[in-house]
Amino acid sequence: MSTTLDALSILTITRPDDWHLHLRDGPALRDTVADAARHFARAIVMPNLAPPVTTTAQAGVYRQRILTARPEGSDWQPLMVLYLTDNTPPDEIDRAVSSGFIHAVKYYPAGATTNSDSGVTDIKNAYGVLERMEKLGLPLLLHGEVTDQHIDIFDREAVFIERTLAPLCTQFPRLKIVLEHITTAQGAQFVASGGDNIAATITPQHLLYNRNDLLAGGIRPHNYCLPILKRSTHQQALIEAATGGSGKFFLGTDSAPHPQSKKESACGCAGCYSHHGAIELYAEVFDRANALDKLEGFASHFGPTFYGLPINEKKLTLRRSPWQLPATTQLGDDLMVPFYASETLQWAVVDGESNG
Ligand code: DOR
Ligand code: ZN
Repeated sequence: MSTTLDALSILTITRPDDWHLHLRDGPALRDTVADAARHFARAIVMPNLAPPVTTTAQAGVYRQRILTARPEGSDWQPLMVLYLTDNTPPDEIDRAVSSGFIHAVKYYPAGATTNSDSGVTDIKNAYGVLERMEKLGLPLLLHGEVTDQHIDIFDREAVFIERTLAPLCTQFPRLKIVLEHITTAQGAQFVASGGDNIAATITPQHLLYNRNDLLAGGIRPHNYCLPILKRSTHQQALIEAATGGSGKFFLGTDSAPHPQSKKESACGCAGCYSHHGAIELYAEVFDRANALDKLEGFASHFGPTFYGLPINEKKLTLRRSPWQLPATTQLGDDLMVPFYASETLQWAVVDGESNG
């Protein structure tokens, strides 16, 4: 364990990776890629563009656009993901694996969230593809919510686990699965009690906030994301899962930028942008839980181990030094209000020592 935490409150960890990130495309890439590359070494790049990234060829071209947007001298790496549809052919999985740059396939239930219209209407439609993924060891990343309009939005993850995930695990017992951005005690419990082939990512917003932070005393659209923030008992279960030292839970920000005008609207978009201070937001959570010694495993070790990738060699140093997050940041030609805007965080990354 290379975490060092001394009385001066300096914390040095292996450089972290983000196992769930939305970079978008076009002019936004300059800002999202610069933020992603600042403190992290790699990121799983979500494919929910419009139109979505459904083929290895499209992922290759998107990857090039991302690499071009990297700041000079950066060796940060995008790990590409295919967007699963009802019509994805099983042979696409062979192409994805041989590409060497595709590391997973993302399942969005059709209509569940941003740009999910081309998602899967019935998981049985994807059984041929999932069989191939199980055989070749390519992970399936799940947006774990049912889309049934009769199911209350706060219950959609729990019902997904019961109706879709549990049968899926029985049907494909060796398929590698990441239940993305878990938001409930049921999600944490299901993953904790599953085999080594099932893991979960947890976002900073679901660790720092609960639904009161979205709805009590006025609607706060910048805290609206999907799956939606749940009650505080679920938040507590997530904090325990993240800080408990289990290799099944690792860092995935789900940082998802939307322009300010699209969030502050009568029908606001879902998504919190956290890459202006991602590792610092997690440090805040682990510090409050007296678990800073567990941050490195969660942020830097458990993800690569699950994905079968090497752990980063470089380090990142944080210092206890309160700083205020910006009120707004740039997203291409638009302004954006980031997550935790104008709030104060206790831990800051020590620039200059961060490339060691
Ligand atoms: O809040 C979210 N925003 N949840 C998602 O699943 C998608 C994401 C986005 O792409 O904006
Ligand atoms: Zn996402």
